[in-house]
Amino acid sequence: MPGLVNPALPAGALRALTQPRLVVDDDLTLRPWRADDADAIRTAFATPDIQRWHMRSIDGDDEVHQWIEDWTTSWHAETDAGWAIARTSDDQAIGQASLRSLALFAAQAQVSYWVVPAARGARVAARATRALTHWAFEVLRLHRVFLLHSTANPASCRVALNCGFPAEGTLRGYMLHTDGWHDMHIHARLHTDL
Ligand SMILES: CC(C)(COP(=O)(O)OP(=O)(O)OC[C@H]1O[C@@H](n2cnc3c(N)ncnc32)[C@H](O)[C@@H]1OP(=O)(O)O)[C@@H](O)C(=O)NCCC(=O)NCCS
Repeated sequence: MPGLVNPALPAGALRALTQPRLVVDDDLTLRPWRADDADAIRTAFATPDIQRWHMRSIDGDDEVHQWIEDWTTSWHAETDAGWAIARTSDDQAIGQASLRSLALFAAQAQVSYWVVPAARGARVAARATRALTHWAFEVLRLHRVFLLHSTANPASCRVALNCGFPAEGTLRGYMLHTDGWHDMHIHARLHTDL
């Protein structure tokens, strides 16, 4: 049965690009993950609220290195695109910002972020997400970027609002966490909102 709607973006639109370094502002840069980020990744995934809201832990060096390599694989598969949020002064990774569940045919992706506890309190996630979303709209040409967070995670709700993602509603019993089903807020930004 022929489809009547053409893909919003063609297959190959992400893989044709080299993953860029993105300047967030004077203090922060988004850059591809590297093997020497292993300690920062171990620290992040040992943090209780990062484990809780990202629903995974990392056990051992092999899993850390696999996690880093998976970003290259998923860029070429055009499923996910992830950056380390790095302090510009020393290029040290202090967080992550990514486009998840990338759907080129619908020109959409879900944004995800975490920040290590030592770097919190300076709106790092919102600043990084703004820069990532700008790239996603202006270079990759996505149409919609959305964000989901548990209604029990008010910090993430603040991040979403701070980076210009208005709330669209509550998805009831939408995501299974370790302590059961969570209601999720959905926030989104359209290219045309810019
Ligand atoms: C969410 C997260 C990325 C924010 O880190 P950050 O960018 O350093 O954010 P900040 O510490 O500057 O806080 C941002 C806002 O959230 C508020 N906030 C922080 N912790 C909060 C909490 N426990 N409850 C309510 N609000 C909180 C801050 O007051 C701030 O509000 P403001 O914008 O009005 O000033 C970080 O807390 C984190 O990594 N959490 C665990 C992982 C996670 O939740 N990821 C998102 C999954 S959807």
